[in-house]
Amino acid sequence: MQKLKKENYTITYNVYGSGTPLVLIHGFPLSGKLWDKVIPDLSKKYKVIVPDLPGIGESTFSTEEFSIDDLAKCIADVLQAEGEPKAIIAGHSMGGYTALAFAELFEEMVMGIALVHSSATADTEEKREQRRKTIALIEKGGKEPFIRQMIPNLFAAEDYLKEEQKLITERSLLTENKTLTVFYNAMINRLDRTHILKNKAFPVMWVLGKQDNIADYKIVIQQSTLADVNFVYTYDQCGHMSMVENPQRLVVDLNSFADYCI
Ligand code: MLT
Repeated sequence: MQKLKKENYTITYNVYGSGTPLVLIHGFPLSGKLWDKVIPDLSKKYKVIVPDLPGIGESTFSTEEFSIDDLAKCIADVLQAEGEPKAIIAGHSMGGYTALAFAELFEEMVMGIALVHSSATADTEEKREQRRKTIALIEKGGKEPFIRQMIPNLFAAEDYLKEEQKLITERSLLTENKTLTVFYNAMINRLDRTHILKNKAFPVMWVLGKQDNIADYKIVIQQSTLADVNFVYTYDQCGHMSMVENPQRLVVDLNSFADYCI
């Protein structure tokens, strides 16, 4: 594991394989382990860089606020530390929001962006309100019920892949309250980034789960024609977690996209 220490944060990350860099950014409230089932195959062809975002595992932040743009800056720092001027950036959900912020801030470093169950729009006011209520619940000690209710909701069906759900729940329960609220505030405050898709030259990959309760298929599919080059993959029998629900297919699809980006 590599460790990078900066003034306001420390980020740890793993590197697998060699070749064109492919960064895999996890979502909320997960960790780099999210990608465990796809890393062995992807790293046969690419230099796969898998961070734990600050606040997760041994990665930390020392500030009260840490925005999606701050997370994007961490990814740029990791690539710089690795001596990589450009990369393909794949992000799951909140990791996708980070990938889009990265594309806005560091366009020259982007070979392609893969949005895995993510969206380029900002939160609706209703969603913000819901997140504020969750923050209040967490601050009152409600982390465990929140996580236990949240994780099954990420899958195509509540009784699907029960063992995986259990493992992800146990890992997520290790996340500190502070990290959960910082990430929720970061998502509340994130900007609409649909203009990035319209105005930039890099190709965009979309992975959509037909049963995704978070990145709603009917909403996200509308964004999937905004960029000039879109690779759109719709997964049946899949919720928000293709890297766990259908990792073999995700490997094939990420490979096709990455081959195009090179
Ligand atoms: C995630 O999976 O990263 C989050 O659920 C995304 C979100 O809440 O918008």
